[in-house]
Amino acid sequence: MAAAGDQTHFGQRTVRLDEKQSLVNDVFHSVASRYDLMNDLMSFGLHRAWKDALVAKVRPSLDRPFAHVDVAGGTGDVAVRVAKAGGPLTEVTVVDVNGDMLRVGEKRAARRAFSKRLTFIEGNAEALPLPDGRFDAYTIAFGIRNVPRIEDALKEAYRVLKRGGRFLCLEFSRVDLPVMDRLYDAYSFAAIPPIGKAVTGDGGAYRYLVESIRKFPPPERFAEMIGEAGFARVDFTRLSGGVVAIHSGWKL
Ligand SMILES: C[S@@+](CC[C@H](N)C(=O)[O-])C[C@H]1O[C@@H](n2cnc3c(N)ncnc32)[C@H](O)[C@@H]1O
Repeated sequence: MAAAGDQTHFGQRTVRLDEKQSLVNDVFHSVASRYDLMNDLMSFGLHRAWKDALVAKVRPSLDRPFAHVDVAGGTGDVAVRVAKAGGPLTEVTVVDVNGDMLRVGEKRAARRAFSKRLTFIEGNAEALPLPDGRFDAYTIAFGIRNVPRIEDALKEAYRVLKRGGRFLCLEFSRVDLPVMDRLYDAYSFAAIPPIGKAVTGDGGAYRYLVESIRKFPPPERFAEMIGEAGFARVDFTRLSGGVVAIHSGWKL
């Protein structure tokens, strides 16, 4: 999020807004091939339950056309779940700024029966290469805190949704239980970067991940930002003691 003038955060560092995206891109180029394995290791597999909870809110139609877009979709984990949950007329577009992440996803999806209903597009959340009013639902999972101009990404989400369409964001949040917050901090800072280094060879990438979680706005403030982008009936649900939250808003 913009902190002052044209500056923002890259983990604990203050960087220029236009510098952040290339630093983020380096992180995901570096970890793309081991990204899915790292998710399982870091979250003890919990990311699967969190993504299932997100997709349960999408509720793609089983018999009518349903157009879904998953932004910062990476290796397509959320997109695959939406395609599986929906009917034969559910189509899912995955957008990510990083071609390496998309290629891992495309390769994985090719083996699935519903692969024809998935489209992978390289593009930026801040300027989506997609038409206005096209989608019934928009998801972004563990993506928005990497985007330099969060407000622009929210405006774009609003633009590409149909009236009656839903915005859903799954993101790391703030642990709000005493004791658990300290355990979570100790685990994140002491364990995640070394595990990341052992698995992907890049401990710095995972230090960025841990730090960027702390820099992301608290859930109440993020909900306000979603409202400021034009969404109505904004709310959020904390999962796993606040480790993550799902924010929701409607384009009415
Ligand atoms: C932590 S991964 C999440 C991937 C996937 N959504 C998941 O939950 O497994 C973050 C993704 O955000 C993408 N990303 C970062 N900045 C972006 C931007 N400005 N526009 C689109 N995608 C972006 C990265 O390339 C990366 O694939």
